[in-house]
Amino acid sequence: MNDLKKEIVKRVEEGRNWLRTNIVKIEDYKTDQELKKPQPPLVKKPMTNNVIELSLNFNDLEIDNDFLHVINSRESHRVYTQEKISLLELSYLLWCSQGVKEIRGKSYATLRTVPCGGARHEFECYMTIQNVEGLKDGLYHYLPMKHQIEFLKQIDNLKDFISDSLQGQRWADKANVVLYYSFVCYRAEWRYGIYAHRMVSCDAGHITQNVYLAATSIGLGGCAIGAVNGNLCDKYFDLDGEEEFIFYAMPVGTISEKDVDKEKDFYKFVEEEGL
Ligand SMILES: Cc1cc2nc3c(=O)[nH]c(=O)nc-3n(C[C@H](O)[C@H](O)[C@H](O)COP(=O)(O)O)c2cc1C
Repeated sequence: MNDLKKEIVKRVEEGRNWLRTNIVKIEDYKTDQELKKPQPPLVKKPMTNNVIELSLNFNDLEIDNDFLHVINSRESHRVYTQEKISLLELSYLLWCSQGVKEIRGKSYATLRTVPCGGARHEFECYMTIQNVEGLKDGLYHYLPMKHQIEFLKQIDNLKDFISDSLQGQRWADKANVVLYYSFVCYRAEWRYGIYAHRMVSCDAGHITQNVYLAATSIGLGGCAIGAVNGNLCDKYFDLDGEEEFIFYAMPVGTISEKDVDKEKDFYKFVEEEGL
C-alpha cells in the first residue's frame, strides 16, 4: 500500500472508531461534569452592540399547518429566485431551529425547539444575509436567549464568500440566508468528554431538519450543506477555530415551482451515468 492509501485507511478507521466511541467504556474515566468542574456558559455573549430584536408574532405568517403535507413536501432546494423575505420569516426559521423555550434549573441548560444530547445545545448560529427586509446585507449572529440577531459586519464580496465557504457551491450565493453552525466544543465535552463528538453529529441533524420543515411550511426552500470550508468561515466570523469552529451550513431562499427542472438538473448525472 502506498502512503496515501495507508493514510486513507487510517482515517476511515479513525472515523469508525469515533462513531463507535460510546460503546467503549473506559474504566476510571470521568467527564468534567462528573468531576464537578464548572459548567461553561450556555450561549455565547453578543460579539457587538448591534443587536436587532426579532418578533415571535408568527400569526402574521402564512404557515402550512398540515403537518403531514409539510413532511411529505420537504426536499432540498438549490435554485433560489432572489426575492426579498421578511424579517419575521427569518425570525421564524431561527426560532424553529434554535429558539430557547425555557431554562432547565437555575442555569443548567436551555430547552429549545430541537432536541439535543444532555440539552447542551453546543452550537452557535452565524448567518450571511441578503434580501431580507429591514436588514443590511452582511454577516450576522443569532442570540437565542433573547431571540435577537446581531449585525457583525458588511463584506464586499458576500456572494463569493458564500460560494467559497461552501466549497464552490455557487448556486448557494442566491440564498437570502445561509445559516452556518459552529460547534462550541467544551459545551458538549464538559458533559460528554470523549463521547461528545458522536452526540454533536446527531444533534446537528435535528437543527437542519427543523430548518427544512420550517422553510417548507412558509414556502421557502433550503439545502443542508456538509461541504463547508470551515477555516474560511472561522476567519470571516472571527472564531478561533480551536474552541469553536464552523462545520455545517444551510442556505435558505425564495423558490418557484417554475424552477423544478433546474432543480432536477443537479441530479442529471444519475440518469446520464445510468446509476
Ligand atoms: C449532512 C448533510 C450534508 C449535505 N451536504 C450537501 C452538500 O454539501 N451539497 C448539496 O448539494 N447537498 C447536500 N446535502 C443534501 C443532500 O444531498 C440531500 O438531502 C439528498 O440528496 C436527499 O435529497 P432531499 O433532501 O431532497 O430528500 C446534504 C444533506 C445532509 C443531511
